[in-house]
Amino acid sequence: MQVEKSSFEDIQKCYELDLAHLSSAWSLDDWQKVDDQSYYYRYVLKEGSVVIGFSLWQVDLIEYSSHLLKMVVGSGQQGRGLGRKLLVESEQNLLDSGVNSFYLEVGVTNHSASALYLSHGYHQINQIKSFYQNGEDAQILYKEV
Ligand SMILES: CC(C)(COP(=O)(O)OP(=O)(O)OC[C@H]1O[C@@H](n2cnc3c(N)ncnc32)[C@H](O)[C@@H]1OP(=O)(O)O)[C@@H](O)C(=O)NCCC(=O)NCCS
Repeated sequence: MQVEKSSFEDIQKCYELDLAHLSSAWSLDDWQKVDDQSYYYRYVLKEGSVVIGFSLWQVDLIEYSSHLLKMVVGSGQQGRGLGRKLLVESEQNLLDSGVNSFYLEVGVTNHSASALYLSHGYHQINQIKSFYQNGEDAQILYKEV
């Protein structure tokens, strides 16, 4: 199981994982546009050549901050420490690129994801009402290194 920078060939699989696991999924067209923008950083978790998870970040190299837009581990693979591995190794690569802070939004009912982030140094700095399309509130979590 390895984490690596994502290539254009991985986009279809990232799109499928996004669609299957996140309520605010992007279209395939949106995913393809990501590949054109240097401020998006994508990482994939692979078993051999098979993509089983991804993280997608938007990096601001003026503020040296990195915004986690999406992270998914396929449902059949969750609960095995792979989300933690993906988060740790993605962050390390971003740190190596000059980033020194991270932030993200997570739904207030997404207890497994927020437990992962809170146990990995993030803390809540804000809460936004009705952040998601389904009306759910989001916690804003932040971590400075
Ligand atoms: C969030 C997600 C990426 C975590 O990946 P994962 O591989 O299941 O996570 P891990 O097995 O590495 O678990 C890491 C930590 O998450 C928390 N966690 C994972 N599953 C949990 C569960 N069912 N209940 C409570 N906490 C849980 C724990 O803190 C765990 O640490 P521990 O193993 O030391 O107890 C994955 O569940 C997922 O893709 N969910 C759907 C998409 C999503 O919600 N993405 C996040 C959007 S912000």
